[in-house]
This record gives sequence, structure tokens and C-alpha cells, in this order.
Amino acid sequence: MNIVPALSPVRLDLAERSYDIHIGTDLLSQAGQLIAPLLKQKKLFVVADSTVAELHLERLNAALHAAGIAAEHYLVPSGEASKSFAQLERLCEAVLATAPERSTTLLAFGGGVVGDLTGFAAAILLRGLPFIQMPTTLLSQVDSSVGGKTAINSRHGKNLLGAFHQPKLVLADIDLLATLPARELVSGYGEVMKYGLIDDAPFFAWLEQNGPALLEGEAEARRQAVHHAVCAKARIVAADERESGQRALLNLGHTFGHALEAETFYSDLLLHGEAVALGCLMAFDLSVRLGLCPEADFERLRRHCAAVGLKVALPKLEAGWDEQRLFDHFAHDKKVADGRLVFIIARGIGQSFISRDVPEASLRALLADWVKGAQS
Ligand code: GLY
Repeated sequence: MNIVPALSPVRLDLAERSYDIHIGTDLLSQAGQLIAPLLKQKKLFVVADSTVAELHLERLNAALHAAGIAAEHYLVPSGEASKSFAQLERLCEAVLATAPERSTTLLAFGGGVVGDLTGFAAAILLRGLPFIQMPTTLLSQVDSSVGGKTAINSRHGKNLLGAFHQPKLVLADIDLLATLPARELVSGYGEVMKYGLIDDAPFFAWLEQNGPALLEGEAEARRQAVHHAVCAKARIVAADERESGQRALLNLGHTFGHALEAETFYSDLLLHGEAVALGCLMAFDLSVRLGLCPEADFERLRRHCAAVGLKVALPKLEAGWDEQRLFDHFAHDKKVADGRLVFIIARGIGQSFISRDVPEASLRALLADWVKGAQS
């Protein structure tokens, strides 16, 4: 892959909804200066993950204050359970209590949960308020903060209630990854790896060389990886904002992954990126079974997942995995078109494609084998 120097922001080109994505170090202390030009009134409604707030909110406040921006704060409990109707209602009522105007801007300060929740609240408050993303996890920096997908979960599945609502700015400060727990970092790596698997074999090879250093804290490797992933995402979203075609490739590993997350009740038995990485392995395994992908590519992917500490088998569940229930989740996923299941499968690493005709029998056989192979 091309090595990029620290430079100007990545631009996501969407006509009047275009925005900049800054990726770099020390962006927290520059946040005020970078945000101020976007604000009509020098006010922000900051929605922060409670753990992130303990670690970094004071510095964010100092940066906003230095730029003359007054901030209201709202804390969201860490964890997927916050992507709920109840939390959405509380957040919306808290914003409405401040008598917002159409230009009142929300800032999401945290990982994917806070970004998705805040973005959805922004989409529906006064029929649409502006919002800014300041992602603090690897997962949200490389995926969820970019592209305007916002959502909460339903009892029927993940991200089933939401809206496309693009942020006005994204600030991805690599320094904030230093306080991220190791498991969260590895989970986010699942989404980084996905970009290599979709259409970028050289990036996958770069990750095989640099992934371990990136996870151990090498700042330049982190910046390169986040920059590369964001450029890839910006390119795909610019071409297909509403997922009428190629954007669906970004869902590689997600149909399987969402089913695994639902069956583990969005608990810490499986973090989102861990589920996506397992989902990628299942998609490649399926592709091998369908005679589309060389077994060597599946094995290479499995070796890399194991090398960076990603799970390569389903975790053991006390009650056991239920193949039928896993299968039923596919039908509830958003990736169903004309009643047919849509899967992202692959002809090899970097050669993924959208398929609408995966035979049910192959899916059932795949699930049976993965359930049998569950490990504690
Ligand atoms: N996370 C997939 C997408 O943004 O389309």
C-alpha cells in the first residue's frame, strides 16, 4: 500500500453534505479551533461515553473553552445496551430541555455506540440537527464515524432503527487509542482488516507485516492504517451513500457477525469487531465450500486473525449455540432483498462480491460446523 505522510484531512465528497475527516495526533487539543468555524453560535451539546469522559472530557472542555465554545454535557453509559429506545428518549429530552435551534450542534465523543446514538438523535431532533463525530476507538475511527449510518438496536436485531445522517466533521485523534483496552483495540482491528479483504490485497499484506506493531502501540502504524481505511470508506460511500450497490461490500462479515452478537445478547462474550472478524472467517469458509475461493486464502486469513489475537472459533456458550436461531437472524438482518438473503462472499483475499444466491443448504452446513467447533 502507499505510505501517506501526515497531511490534510480526507474529504468525503457528497455535494452539499461533504465533510472533512481529520486523522492525526493531538487533535483533542485542537478540537476547539477545528470545530469553531462550523458553529453559528459558539455552543455545543457534547454527548460523551462515560468512560471516555473520565479520561478525556476535561481536556476536550479546555480546548472548546479556549476557542470560546460553551458546552452542555450528557453522559452515556459505556456499552451496546445504550443503543436503546430508552437512552435515545433520555438524550433527545435532554437536548430539547436546552431549547435548541436548528443550528444547535451535537458532538459525539466516544466509540460507535455514542456515535450511532448521537447521530440518530441529531437526525430526528427538530427534523435534523448538525452533528460532529469525535471517535475514540479504533472501530469507530475506521468505520462507524464515517458515512452517516446512525442507529439504535431493536429487540429484533442490531441497528434496525436509524437514519442516514452525515456528520459535519470527523476528528479521529490517534492519541486517544492509547487508553483503549487491548481487547477493544483488537476488536477494532477486525474492521480494519475488513478493508483488505474487500478489495485491497496489498493492504492485507501490509497488515500482516504491521498489524502486531499497530496493536502494540506503534503510533505511525496506527495512523497509516486508520488513514488507509478511512480513504477506502470515503471512496465507497461517495459512490453509493445510501447503499443501493457497492456500499454493501462494507458489510463483509456483518450478516454472520450480527447473528453472533444477537445470540450473545450484545454482551462482552463477543465485541462487535470480534464478531465481524468471525463473520469474515465464516464468509471465507463459505466461499471455499462454494468452490469460489482457494482454501489457502481462508487459511491465511485464519492465521492472521490468530496472530493478532482475534477469535478464530465461536466462543462456548453455556446453553450452546442454536443453529436454527442463528439462521433466523439472517432473515431479520437488513441485507435481505426481494426476500432473498444477501451475503458478501469472496473469490480470494481482496476479491469480495455481493451474492444473492447462496444455497440455504450450504449456509446450514456451515453453521453446523462452526457451532460444532465452538471453543471455550
Ligand atoms: N459499516 C458499514 C457502512 O458504513 O456501510
